[in-house]
Formats: sequence, C-alpha cells, structure tokens
Amino acid sequence: MEFFLDTANIEEIKRINRLGLVDGVTTNPTIIAKENRDFEETIKEICNLVEGPVSAEVIGLTVDEMVTEARVIAEWAPNVVVKIPMTEAGLEAVNILSKEGIKTNVTLIFSVSQGLMAAKAGATYVSPFVGRVDDIGVDGLELIQNLKTVLVNYQLDAKIITASVRNIGHLEKAAIAGADIATIPGNLFPKLWSHPLTDNGIKQFLADWEKVPKKQEVR
Ligand code: E4P
Repeated sequence: MEFFLDTANIEEIKRINRLGLVDGVTTNPTIIAKENRDFEETIKEICNLVEGPVSAEVIGLTVDEMVTEARVIAEWAPNVVVKIPMTEAGLEAVNILSKEGIKTNVTLIFSVSQGLMAAKAGATYVSPFVGRVDDIGVDGLELIQNLKTVLVNYQLDAKIITASVRNIGHLEKAAIAGADIATIPGNLFPKLWSHPLTDNGIKQFLADWEKVPKKQEVR
C-alpha cells in the first residue's frame, strides 16, 4: 500500500518523508488555506520535496475553467496531479485531460458508481471519502471494498486513494480491502507507528537494564 500525506504543511511532510513513508501528497482548498501561503508556491515546494504524485485541486466548476486551470497546474512540476471534483463537467474535463497525458485525481467520491464513472472517464486516481461517508451513517469502508472489486472486475487502471481517513481503523481496513493508496493527515501518521505497549515495554527494559551489574559503562 502506498501512503500519501494529506497536508500542505512543509514541516509535516519533511518529518514523515525522513522515515521513507511518503509516496505522495494530496491537498485540497481547505488544506491549502490552513497554511496561509500562495497556492502555486506551496505546490511547487511540495513537488520538490517528494518524488511521488502531488495533488493540487482546481477551483473552476465549468469544463473550460477546469481544463484551463489544469493545464496551468500541470506545468508547475512533473509530479503534479490535478484534482478534479466529481461532477458531470469534472468527468468531461478528466476525459479531455487524460487524452493530453495530464494526470487527474477525481475527488469527492461517495458511491461506487461515481468511482466507476471517474475511472471510465480516464482518471488516474479516484478518491472515495471514507470518513465523510461514515459521518452520514453509511459504511465508508464498504465503499472502498466494493469500488476495488468493480475496478478489478473491469480491469480499469484508476488507482483508489482512500481519502478522508480519520483513524487507524480506517487505514487498516482500507489496506485489507486492497485500496492502492491511503492519504493520511499529518496528525494521524504518528498514531500509526505508536503503541502504548511499545512505550511501556521500552520503559520496563530500561528500568531492568539499570539492575544489570556492569563492569564498565558501555554507553
Ligand atoms: C483528500 O484528497 C481529501 O481532500 C481529504 O482526505 C478530505 O479529508 P476530510 O474529509 O477529513 O476533510
């Protein structure tokens, strides 16, 4: 499974990147707004920091607006991916852009049929939102499982980015369901490698080490 970081915070990206865990980055207008910086400058800096795909979202809602914005964003860096909302105009834009070789990530997917339409239109990535689906009382992980089954059934190339990941359970279950990628908020990442029993174990080992007779201090 690939891990993307769902953030535009440079320090978070640098921290997790040092562990070799960042395969890509996703952003959206909300994430960009949190950094209070210029959009283009931020995306270019992230694209320089990570080798993998970096998603940057269009704001326009018509086909022409989306395609025009996407062509500009696609020039910012070789690893940039244009995020397009899941609408009829979005699908048309994805179809045009895919024929130009511009990579797209179709966002705000809440049903299997939306994911299927996006994949069929030529999306490079499709982003079902697990947490937001859970929020309306529907099983978000079932969406991932079913979308994966459908894309495999019809050998569609789009990769699934499990988005709106809110907890460890989301990530683990998406991995079990075979989602290609999970995009993880910076504050959730440390919880994926931490465990209180690990911390307690280290404390206990260090306490016991103090009881070991030592001829000389080795460290
Ligand atoms: C990523 O592509 C999405 O924009 C993001 O995961 C949404 O997460 P949220 O539902 O927590 O805002």
